[in-house]
Amino acid sequence: MITYKELGLVNSKELFRKAITGGYAIPAFNFNNLEQMQAIIGACVETKSPVILQVSSGARKYANQTLLRYLAQGAVQYAKELGCEIPIVLHLDHGDTFELCKSCIESGFSSVMIDGSHFPYEKNVELTKQVVDHAHKFDVTVEGELGVLAGIEDDVVAEHSSYTRPEEVEDFVKKTGVDSLAISIGTCHGANKFKPDQCTRNADGVLIPPPLKFEILEEIEKRIPGFPIVLHGASSVPADLVKMVNTYGGKLKDAVGIPEEQLRRAAHSAVCKINIDSDGRIAMTAAIRKVFSENPAEYDPRKYLGPARDQLKALYKHKINSVLGSAGKA
Ligand code: G3H
Ligand code: 13P
Ligand code: ZN
Repeated sequence: MITYKELGLVNSKELFRKAITGGYAIPAFNFNNLEQMQAIIGACVETKSPVILQVSSGARKYANQTLLRYLAQGAVQYAKELGCEIPIVLHLDHGDTFELCKSCIESGFSSVMIDGSHFPYEKNVELTKQVVDHAHKFDVTVEGELGVLAGIEDDVVAEHSSYTRPEEVEDFVKKTGVDSLAISIGTCHGANKFKPDQCTRNADGVLIPPPLKFEILEEIEKRIPGFPIVLHGASSVPADLVKMVNTYGGKLKDAVGIPEEQLRRAAHSAVCKINIDSDGRIAMTAAIRKVFSENPAEYDPRKYLGPARDQLKALYKHKINSVLGSAGKA
């Protein structure tokens, strides 16, 4: 067993407390490889932002759990080397079993999500409490979820999305002891968050998605004042990056995300962690496609992964500076 404290990581407790009182959100960026880690840490050091490095169970299988743990440990040293000791959380995204959460805690994670949102309420409470009781022995923070996002959550396929029911949150938080709560107010995972027929079009023909259900968020805030709320599925699917992908041979059709304005509003509320994965995938893909298209003879991975890393870092800096408001909060 290696504890996160030995790796120089922190749990999310203090970061969330400051984020709620300060009216900003901590970025939670998914990663599974070296270039993503470099882009995340580079962006966060340059903007002096705290960060949550997020690993899904699929990412852990893909990259190997030992290598990922060392990458996270390396991230702490890398940030120092770049000149700023930013707080770094290593978080399990969408944990689906007690055993997976336990295993992550044993390999240095400082925070875990147990996603029992697809289970009946009582089963969700029971599983979440089991993880919390274990995690808290090691000072590891736990994120639970109430309400189901549309789309695909790792191994969990949500066929029927449902908004979080505000009348359940107080009981859930009290019974489970969770440190933060992911809610469903209309966000969704992936690059195609809404079908075109769910959207309207502006004068330029750009798809405008339905607004998030801020009234549900406000009701939740009333029932559990000051409690840290998490927003999943918060990629904006930037039109310029989608265009870049498609210009260089990609086929991202009807891709639509959450408008930045709505995320800014959420960041000012009790939402103190905003999850972004798809935008990073699109940014890397756009840059790699550009290199392949403009220079088909290129075969050195550094020549396309390098530009992908730069594109990613620029995207993350934009999120931190202009959407989440976490710049300067490290
Ligand atoms: O919410 C899910 C994350 O975007 C992780 O996706 O399971 O494909 O790694 P993944
Ligand atoms: P996006 O697919 O919108 O990036 O959401 C990521 C996420 O919620 C990770 O848990
Ligand atoms: Zn998610």
